[in-house]
Amino acid sequence: MADASSANHPLAEAAAFLRTRLPVQAPVAAIVLGSGLGGLAARISGAIRVAYRDIPGFAEPRVEGHAGELLHGTLGGREVLALAGRFHMYEGHAAAHSAFPVRVVHALGARTLILSNAAGGIRRTFAPGQLMVIADHLNLMFRNPLIGQVQPGDERFPDMSSPYDPDLRQRLHAIARGLGIRLEDGVYAGLLGPSYETPAEVRMLERLGADAAGMSTVPEVMVARAMGMRCAAVSCITNPGAGLSPEPIHHADVIEVTRRAAADFERLIEALVASL
Ligand code: HPA
Repeated sequence: MADASSANHPLAEAAAFLRTRLPVQAPVAAIVLGSGLGGLAARISGAIRVAYRDIPGFAEPRVEGHAGELLHGTLGGREVLALAGRFHMYEGHAAAHSAFPVRVVHALGARTLILSNAAGGIRRTFAPGQLMVIADHLNLMFRNPLIGQVQPGDERFPDMSSPYDPDLRQRLHAIARGLGIRLEDGVYAGLLGPSYETPAEVRMLERLGADAAGMSTVPEVMVARAMGMRCAAVSCITNPGAGLSPEPIHHADVIEVTRRAAADFERLIEALVASL
């Protein structure tokens, strides 16, 4: 297998290409914009956008609510990178490919990763639109993007006792209090999807200690931790988990709820970035 420093390694190639397109200096964070939460991109000033289809090693996302571009600019006065669009495992991407954009933003200098996602509520008191800081996760995808040859600079056995940075979590809560945004803390269960859960699975997740369930984030955090990045993640609870309400779950409703919660989400993340 090629070494990461060789010019034809996909990671080195993607980073070298992006440096020709973006005036990257020292980004304080990279932000992954989840389903329907891409509106934060409009708050990035001086944004330069590169389409995923042009970046070596990237694929074009095909999920509604995902733009498919990498942005560079300033948010809250600080230099950031943003990934508007994901490679979900339910699209057929391997776990390692799902997390490839995280390797790329790390190669461009980002050492803090802020992730977001839409998720179903498992905790019964969560109403649609509730924002939740991820305190910890359950990897129920039963895949790990770190399997195989250890990548240069990665930990072989990354410590996962504190995958979501306690200082960033505490900052998010303090910011939310200051802005009057309701923000809870909870455990995110990552599942493969693309089917939503059954009511029995939702009851199982509740017993396992999950507060929310979604189809992303976990592979990205595992890779980010292996590289030593600090992570913060916010879920937008878009619907009660299956069986917790009489309503069926539709992706269009998921996107609609994220749009309504977007303003609070954007203020929260912008203030977090400004505090870095
Ligand atoms: N389950 C899993 N993922 C989701 C859900 C859900 O209920 N809602 C939005 N993403």
